[in-house]
Amino acid sequence: MADKLVPAPDGESPFTLICEGLLADDLPQFRHEIELALHAQADYLTDIEYQMFKGGKKIRPIVMLLAARMIAGGAPLNPKVYKGSASLEMLHVATLIHDDIVDEAQLRRGVPSVSAARGIKTALLVGDLQFVQALRGFAQNVETERDMGLVRLVLDTAFDICRGELDELDRTLPADIDSALARYYQTIDRKTSELFRLACHAGVELAGGRLRDARRAGFFGRSLGRAFQIMDDVLDLVEYEGSAGKENGVDLTQGRLALPVLFALQSLGQEHAIAQALRGEITLCGEALEQAIDDLRDSGAIDRAYVHARREAYQAIFYLKGFAPSPYRSALEDLVRYVVDRPLNPAIIYKVEVYP
Ligand code: IPE
Ligand code: IPE
Ligand code: MG
Ligand code: MG
Repeated sequence: MADKLVPAPDGESPFTLICEGLLADDLPQFRHEIELALHAQADYLTDIEYQMFKGGKKIRPIVMLLAARMIAGGAPLNPKVYKGSASLEMLHVATLIHDDIVDEAQLRRGVPSVSAARGIKTALLVGDLQFVQALRGFAQNVETERDMGLVRLVLDTAFDICRGELDELDRTLPADIDSALARYYQTIDRKTSELFRLACHAGVELAGGRLRDARRAGFFGRSLGRAFQIMDDVLDLVEYEGSAGKENGVDLTQGRLALPVLFALQSLGQEHAIAQALRGEITLCGEALEQAIDDLRDSGAIDRAYVHARREAYQAIFYLKGFAPSPYRSALEDLVRYVVDRPLNPAIIYKVEVYP
């Protein structure tokens, strides 16, 4: 096992270095578990689902494996970590399949979304199949009372994801910025951060770490998840169309109270097209969507959201300090920095400048 991680040059993705170095011996076992889980559903899957599993950053299983390795070092990992990380990715993919139905998204991981390719009815049921298969994977790991505790955490997380996605459909506009922020954070914690929290908590627990370390790792994961979702909201508005393998401007088209949208609403007022879209009075698309994105960017909303993402990133790195220094801890720190530094990449700033 490689035990060194050369830091990624500024702005470059640390994913390649982690996958080809620190986790080079772990990822084949993760992939094998994914293959087993897909095999169980083979009669119901098409190329689209297999292509979906080939794509994606795999950030959740990667942080789970790194969290486990912070505890185990280079020693063999408990096989439950591999099954757990595959189940985590499958749970995530299930939520993406359902999310693309709700968000009417046509593109995912660079391929047509399951709902676009196979229709809503099939996507709904294939999403259910993957959701349940993921839960079965976690249940198959149960041998001890502690394993059972982890299954309870998985079920709580899945329950939260469903609540978060439902909460996001709420079209009432909060009365003031404080209640808007409280609602935003509650929603992203439920729909996104709790899964990152689970990844880190489970990684430490399944590697035999102490419960208090698993909890601390969970807090790290939650902050990372918040930073990740805020940046996803930001990138939805500033990245080139399709560069993340999905469409842009979805939050404005769908009237979602994403963090930059929330700040723009505060600056631009209740009569602006963005406020009308949030109330569901109009649907932003074409020229009107581009104008709304320009207004949002001019309002300073992107910068304000970015400050929140960085605050969560600092918090995440603070929680990591409770673990002994290791290449795995450094890799997690690099991932946190990468998540929030992507827009500082000169190429991305250039893209921001030339956004039509
Ligand atoms: C997308 O997650 C959903 C969010 C929580 C923003 P990712 O950005 O990790 O998607 P993939 O797995 O790389 O496709
Ligand atoms: C991400 O939802 C959270 C889940 C999928 C549960 P979003 O709608 O914000 O994510 P993207 O932008 O479609 O990936
Ligand atoms: Mg979506
Ligand atoms: Mg969504």
